[in-house]
Amino acid sequence: MAKDWTPSSWRAKPIEQVPAYPDLAALGETEKRLASFPPLVFAGEARKLKKALAEVAEGRSFLLQGGDCAESFAEHGADNIRDFFRAFLQMAVVLTFAASSPVVKVGRIAGQFAKPRSSGNETKGGVTLPSYRGDIINGIDFDEASRIPSPERQEMAYRQSAATLNLLRAFAQGGYANLDNVHQWMLGFVSGSPQAERYGQLADRISETMNFMRAIGINSESHPSLRETDFFTSHEALLLGYEEALTRVDSTSGEWYATSGHMIWIGDRTRQPDNAHVEYCRGIKNPIGLKCGPSLSADELIRLIDILNPQNEAGRLTLITRFGHDKVTDHLPRLIRAVQKEGRKVVWSCDPMHGNTITVNDYKTRPFDRILSEVEAFFDVHRAEGTHAGGIHIEMTGKDVTECTGGARPVLAEDLSDRYHTHCDPRLNANQALELAFLTAERIKKEQEAYRPPQAVGF
Ligand code: PEP
Ligand code: CO
Repeated sequence: MAKDWTPSSWRAKPIEQVPAYPDLAALGETEKRLASFPPLVFAGEARKLKKALAEVAEGRSFLLQGGDCAESFAEHGADNIRDFFRAFLQMAVVLTFAASSPVVKVGRIAGQFAKPRSSGNETKGGVTLPSYRGDIINGIDFDEASRIPSPERQEMAYRQSAATLNLLRAFAQGGYANLDNVHQWMLGFVSGSPQAERYGQLADRISETMNFMRAIGINSESHPSLRETDFFTSHEALLLGYEEALTRVDSTSGEWYATSGHMIWIGDRTRQPDNAHVEYCRGIKNPIGLKCGPSLSADELIRLIDILNPQNEAGRLTLITRFGHDKVTDHLPRLIRAVQKEGRKVVWSCDPMHGNTITVNDYKTRPFDRILSEVEAFFDVHRAEGTHAGGIHIEMTGKDVTECTGGARPVLAEDLSDRYHTHCDPRLNANQALELAFLTAERIKKEQEAYRPPQAVGF
């Protein structure tokens, strides 16, 4: 057990990004009620994810993490969840085939509600109001009443997370995630894509493999593993009162776990080693993510690893780097070298979203080319350093939104206003997300072909 740690020890530390709740007594009541509610996930599941991530850390698997920037109460429909899951699984199949290794599937979902903001206030037309901090805290509408933080929202977020997780579990285990289905959806995407020829080559190889498997009797009837999949949830552990209320002791190990999601991460704005968010995360046993932006020094990273993963347990810590497409080569090598020199076991994952946000026609957007270029640079640097480019972390939806520009069926600057639905940052739409998976898959294949150890000739 972590020394001098309790689920509430973060309260004695300096803290960033705290909402100004006007009624602290009501906040305390809500937290007390939440603490009596059932856990959303179980410790055993978090341990299973940690084991899967250990395989990524050892270079034997790939991590796909993605979902909304911010989930919203308004968009809590079955269709949204289904469409996200469908797009996500297609990405996973393409990546699994390319990497010839398992893909660990982690959604930014069923709990991704609290948002850090670069400014506490927002000014529009001469009016200044508190910033929107995610539906778990306040409302997005630009009026005074909506922007007042309200504790009841935490219970709404808890209940929405429970319902979302329930549906995801049914999709993952109940046959919807059947490999044949996912393969058919993926072929549908490829045939409708302007890049059909390019993506078709990989898709055809997947089809051939599936036909071969069927021919020798490996199908979803005979092999349950082809009908189901392991899918995990994750979110930024930003609202620590909520996290504390859902922190529970695991009866089998006697250890503390966050039960709000399988994996939680520390954001780039709240990763100060002596502050509250790092304090909270060091004491729970879940897999933890740490966002690493350009301002993170190598020394500070090692200090954070000392605090968050003192046992050097593989799978415990995922470093999610987010520098911007043109800054990867400035920052990633120095962090990798420090981690390698100290012999720390981590998963390296690339968030190509948060360093590539620009404003076009008053819309926050991210050009697809820059997103792809950050992923490419991430692979280049890892190849040069001899480390495993372990995964990608993206903001995406299953819907046909117009939030990020570019892609094979391009979203143009003038299209942004058509279907710009995000509650926070711009997400890849389903086509752009799948396209990114195909292009990342091509990259992984290229890497494998160039660096595969020499094969013996003949049988
Ligand atoms: C996010 O992942 O939505 C986010 C706010 O990221 P970061 O902490 O890296 O800015
Ligand atoms: Co975001």
